[in-house]
Amino acid sequence: MDDQIKNIKTLEELQSLYTSVFGKNGTMTARLRDMKNLDNDARAALNAENVLLRELFKTRQAEIENAILMDNLAKQKLDVSLNPVPENRGTLHPLTQSLSEISAILESFGYTRWTGPELEDDWHNFTALNTPAHHPARDMQDTFFLENGNVLRTQTSAIQIRAMESDGVPIKMFGIGSTYRKEMDATHSPMFGQIEGLYVDKGVTMSDLIADVRMFLSRFFEMDDVELRIRPSYFPFTDPSIEIDMKWHGGKWLEVMGAGMVHPNVLRNCGINPDQYQGFAFGFGWDRLAMLKYGLDDIREFYNGDVRWLKNAGF
Ligand code: DAH
Repeated sequence: MDDQIKNIKTLEELQSLYTSVFGKNGTMTARLRDMKNLDNDARAALNAENVLLRELFKTRQAEIENAILMDNLAKQKLDVSLNPVPENRGTLHPLTQSLSEISAILESFGYTRWTGPELEDDWHNFTALNTPAHHPARDMQDTFFLENGNVLRTQTSAIQIRAMESDGVPIKMFGIGSTYRKEMDATHSPMFGQIEGLYVDKGVTMSDLIADVRMFLSRFFEMDDVELRIRPSYFPFTDPSIEIDMKWHGGKWLEVMGAGMVHPNVLRNCGINPDQYQGFAFGFGWDRLAMLKYGLDDIREFYNGDVRWLKNAGF
């Protein structure tokens, strides 16, 4: 019997042998039942045999279980010398990155961040910005009109109106968001990102504007010395209006933003007295600035959602 137990390889076989010995109809069970017919010595021997046999079964069970455990451990062993599978790590989209940089810079200058609705009414997108119905300047932008007369916001200038209406003056804010125009080529996307800066207080001048713009560009493009060129321009909501160019690497002039002193009519439309308060405003495409910063030729790549492009461009 001892050898028989020791040679058993599986728990199932061990269990069935155990049942045949100790089960209800087992051999040992039968012998124990008849113990009363035995003399004392024989009883003691049977008891000892019973105890020993149970012990043997227990030991063999532990051995088999241990062998199974070892076998499983061997199979599950990790080979730590294998090369790891490369992790697919995401990054922030370059526009998101540049947007947070721009916001951080303007906030450090004391500008407060604002957003507004992309579906805008005529008042905020045009009329309050000194561009009433039939004003020729409405043609400066190819607008998406809705049937109810609302528009897809063509400029974040609409946000400066909302900010002044809500908070009054003095105010120093910037509005960010998507803007929409019917145009599409390498430097225009029908949806693009704009940023609008506004500072209205007593005695604000054009030189305050130029100082902030210069500091902003120098921080964003990480250039110590930013050379600017100011050209006269026209926007209905500023007077005088200017276009600001910046000298790029290699001496090339790049147009970076439109700006000017807030038109008195715009202040009046927001309930502000232009005889007491003056201000400046500036507006630019933040995707344009990001294009320059990252050296891209086609603005549409930002919006294609092509992960391979994003990865290859190394953002
Ligand atoms: N809203 C103008 C545009 O979309 C940009 C702009 C120009 C904003 C001059 C301004 C500004 O605040 O003063 O073309």
